Amino acid sequence: MKVLVLNGPNLNMLGIREPALYGNGTYNDLVDFIRDAAKELYLDVEIFQSNSEGELVTAIQNALGKFDGIVINAAAYTHTSVAILDALKAVGLPTAEVHLTDIHNREPFRRLSYVGMYAHKTVCGKGFEGYRECLKWIVTSAS
Ligand code: DQA
Repeated sequence: MKVLVLNGPNLNMLGIREPALYGNGTYNDLVDFIRDAAKELYLDVEIFQSNSEGELVTAIQNALGKFDGIVINAAAYTHTSVAILDALKAVGLPTAEVHLTDIHNREPFRRLSYVGMYAHKTVCGKGFEGYRECLKWIVTSAS
């Protein structure tokens, strides 16, 4: 089973950005964590990070026929991007939304999630562990 993990803007700054919120782990630490979790679940995983909305849309479109599911942390685009929502709807793959922080207990503008209007599962506020939970969900839902 192949899963595409997408990470949006500023997640490449993990370890530097607002450590009180996001922790001290770097983006490379997150990538290692996802790879280890995928290995334990016998999943093939491709991980892609971009600061660009269009690149994320293209990555979702290109997932069609190549992946069995998508795990996405669209970061700030979560709250703004109809284009990412439309791309997810277009490809129709099982999709789990993940956020490191609890977007429902931060600023009010973070409570709206366009990704969540399509995603079949959302995990937030569990840090890196949320990615493992989403990968597990893909295994059970897409098999
Ligand atoms: C985030 C939450 C978003 O609101 C924020 O813009 C991010 C990261 C998270 O993982 O907690 O960049 O998606």
